Amino acid sequence: MTDGGSGGAFPRHIGVIMDGNGRWARMQGKARTQGHLEGLKAAKRIVKAASDMGVSWLTLYTFSTENWKRAREEVSFIMGLVKRYLRGELDFYRQNRIRIRHAGDPEGLPRDIRGELEAACAETRDFEGMQVILALNYGGRDEIIRGIAKLLARNADPPTEAGFRLYLDNPDIPDPDLIIRSAGEWRTSNFLLWGGAYAEYYVSEKLWPDWTGEDLEMAVSRFRERERRYGGAEA
Ligand code: FPP
Repeated sequence: MTDGGSGGAFPRHIGVIMDGNGRWARMQGKARTQGHLEGLKAAKRIVKAASDMGVSWLTLYTFSTENWKRAREEVSFIMGLVKRYLRGELDFYRQNRIRIRHAGDPEGLPRDIRGELEAACAETRDFEGMQVILALNYGGRDEIIRGIAKLLARNADPPTEAGFRLYLDNPDIPDPDLIIRSAGEWRTSNFLLWGGAYAEYYVSEKLWPDWTGEDLEMAVSRFRERERRYGGAEA
């Protein structure tokens, strides 16, 4: 495993929109749930690869505030996978000192999933390796609205941009440098709307269940070729 090649700065925080599980299943003549099962395996490969490469924060868009619109069976299958992931990977997190965190509204999660998530976050909270942020019941607009509600509840002064970020889900985590989207769609889909303001995007045609560490290396290598100007002029 390489660190994604030489060149510009290495991305410290990578966000991933794991798209294409359903299309993968359809192409294989399988049920959508099989696509999610393979998607979970891909997520494990990418977590391992990112940890080996030295990524500091990896945010996985696992379930959005809009995904509740899906069929009840599909929603409960994905929630089951999340539970299985949180329990089954604990030894792996311990060995690799990986810390699990959450982005999104915990209130809207089923009680058992919320319990598993809180337990995994608590168990790993002192680990100093990579941090995996599960975006679960997460929406970028919802994060901002919940932030405004927290701010109003404190009767705070009108915020600056730097001040407002303190009301987001994980204010200590820096903005994502790179946002990866699998399955070829060019959309943000309500992911990291505030933090991703200046993220570099990498869109791959490859469906999420087919992703391996080499795909992550390619995304990082492409990122390192870019010049980030944050609205400024060329150096
Ligand atoms: C998008 O594909 C995928 C999801 C909404 C679910 C993502 C969940 C996983 C990868 C499994 C759980 C992972 C972890 C880390 C616990 P889609 O269903 O929208 O695909 P389509 O656009 O081809 O239909």
